[in-house]
Amino acid sequence: MSTAVDPFEAFDEAQAQGIRDPYPEWAAMLAQAPVHEVDTREQFGIDEDMDLGDIELPPSVLVLSYDGVAQVLRDGATFSSKFYGESMGMVMGHSILEMDEPEHHLYRGLIQQAFTRKALERWRDDLVGPMVSSMVDSIASHGHGDLVRELTFPFPVRVIAGMMGLPEEDLEQFHRWAVELISVGWDIDVGMAASQSLRDYFASLLAPRRVTPGDDLISVLAQAELDGTRLTDEEIFAFLRLLLPAGAETTYRSSSNLLFGLLTHPDQLDAVRSDRSLVPQAIEEGLRWEPPLTGIVRMATADTSIDGYPVAEGTIIHVCMGSANRDPSRWERPEEFDIFRPALQHVSFALGPHTCLGMHLARMETTTAMETILDRLPTMRLDPTADDVHIRGNAFRSPRSLPIVCD
Ligand code: HEM
Repeated sequence: MSTAVDPFEAFDEAQAQGIRDPYPEWAAMLAQAPVHEVDTREQFGIDEDMDLGDIELPPSVLVLSYDGVAQVLRDGATFSSKFYGESMGMVMGHSILEMDEPEHHLYRGLIQQAFTRKALERWRDDLVGPMVSSMVDSIASHGHGDLVRELTFPFPVRVIAGMMGLPEEDLEQFHRWAVELISVGWDIDVGMAASQSLRDYFASLLAPRRVTPGDDLISVLAQAELDGTRLTDEEIFAFLRLLLPAGAETTYRSSSNLLFGLLTHPDQLDAVRSDRSLVPQAIEEGLRWEPPLTGIVRMATADTSIDGYPVAEGTIIHVCMGSANRDPSRWERPEEFDIFRPALQHVSFALGPHTCLGMHLARMETTTAMETILDRLPTMRLDPTADDVHIRGNAFRSPRSLPIVCD
């Protein structure tokens, strides 16, 4: 099924807002202060002329320093996630993303049962390895290709579909609904329709698994139990709706950004080629340097202060992980991609209670992709005829294409 507008392009264009590089502005602001008051309308892209009637928008601050970002993310009591309920929650349902403690702890515990070390190893061997191999082999056989279109864009969504046990023929439609879901900020009707379609689709998959569970993720969620609590159908649907944007949009962009970093720094690519033990630190540096998701949101539950800056109860907190990862008080030459820099915790997977639930999966997927690329494309380099390959975007960042030759 196809629509007149390509939701992938529409989402990418809308979220990028024509922005190529927000980092210089963040650096200039951070040099002045760790926290800035910002315009709530502008932060959410609400048109200046739009009449909001009686709705009074709360004030907003943008947190840019590493210490400020870490403080906010670690303190879920003062900095609540509930605000998501009024935005993404509309299309996803009540998911762990918008829960505070103690509710969050219980549901995260239930869902974590599907993300064991054993499950991760099985997904690596049965799903990610074979899938990445066939995609990379296809590029190798042509001697050239686009790593985004032929590998990093399609593979994470296929992994999640595989984890859920979805039939191959549903994949394209599933991916389309997932992208439409997160386009809700620009097109509410499309987002709400996709939310309902995904609900109906997941309901048809869940019912038989409640009766006869298999070993896929939906079956594990259907059986999960903690302190006498089990997940209801609606809770499972909310989590499954969250999983795709959380797991696919991010991993596709982070693996693209890492490959961009290595391809534009051939000396570092050569170093990783000749010493595979450098792969994990290259992955972490890629995540620090260009996180796929540069910002998330919290709301202050009390009058407080962030990194010394006073903040009133009810203020919306825009947490800028992109800026925190380049805080010059923590990293030297923070704007440079350097896989040899000393290992220091970055905030691309957040910190605190909502630390990314899929970070081990994301690291495994990226490691598998990198190892396969290094094995099968030993002469890979950026296509010298390609014009102006670059990372772009604001909240989500990645290159649109990575044309390479590997003859
Ligand atoms: C490089 C890839 C990834 C990045 C950079 C990333 C980043 C993040 C961040 C920043 C959060 C915190 C959101 C917030 O609290 O507002 C988060 C949460 C989450 N992520 Fe990821 N993520 C990645 C991959 C994945 C994958 C592969 C999955 C699963 C398939 C996943 C599932 C989740 C879930 C379920 C949450 C919500 C956790 C909670 O609220 O307790 N993520 N992720």
